[in-house]
Amino acid sequence: MSDILNNRKPAFTRAIVRKPAPNFAEGLTTQNLGTPSYDKALEQHEAYCAALRQCGLELIELPTDAAYPDSTFVEDTAILTPNCAILTRPGAPSRQGEVDSVRDVLIHYYSRLYAIQPPGTLDGGDICEAGRHFFIGISQRTNEAGALQLAEILAGEGYTSELIDIRHTPGILHLKSGIAYLGEKRVAVIQALADHPAFREYELLRLPPDEEYAANCVRVNEYVLMAAGYPHFQKMLDEAGYQLIVLEMSEYQKMDGGLSCLSLRF
Ligand code: GLY
Repeated sequence: MSDILNNRKPAFTRAIVRKPAPNFAEGLTTQNLGTPSYDKALEQHEAYCAALRQCGLELIELPTDAAYPDSTFVEDTAILTPNCAILTRPGAPSRQGEVDSVRDVLIHYYSRLYAIQPPGTLDGGDICEAGRHFFIGISQRTNEAGALQLAEILAGEGYTSELIDIRHTPGILHLKSGIAYLGEKRVAVIQALADHPAFREYELLRLPPDEEYAANCVRVNEYVLMAAGYPHFQKMLDEAGYQLIVLEMSEYQKMDGGLSCLSLRF
């Protein structure tokens, strides 16, 4: 574990979060796991916020917004790097208005603020930061125009990137439904993406086939947040030396959401 701690990128100090609105269950989903319980979703969100605080983050809490039932998934609205922020243009038209309130916060923290322009679309869930390199998913939400715009902005800021087309990868909405960067050139990855050339120089932690939802885990400073209910993957992370915070995510899973989706960390 000491090499993990010694070889880290700068720590996150803040996160933007937004509690789900009472009409959260009216959001978009491809899952067939039933209607989420609002009370349970609030409880799970509270535990998630407590976990981020445990990781040392100060939370910036946006007001709930019933105009956008998916707006608790704040990660989709921006890409945050140490140098700059990029406002996205979510691929689902019902979500595009979510960006405005996030922009209003980010202007206080970033002097370099870019925005994805039409016809580009891009969801933050498709973007995986791996140190100074970014994996950019092309999905049903992020189109090629959006992905190329982001790659160009990142290149101008001194970052490298690689595109990963997941449009024909079954079972995942966003790239980060199937991968997570854990630091130190290590990637958690579902079987369907494990042989992608983008990961050839990385050490891979392959998700057991019946635990793929757990791929959406999040490294936050010296912790990894992971979803409860995935014992084999939990053991793999544990044996790799990570300090884990295990969180119930059932109500967000029903709405195609994961741990990374619930915050913007910077
Ligand atoms: N429910 C999250 C999304 O589909 O964007």
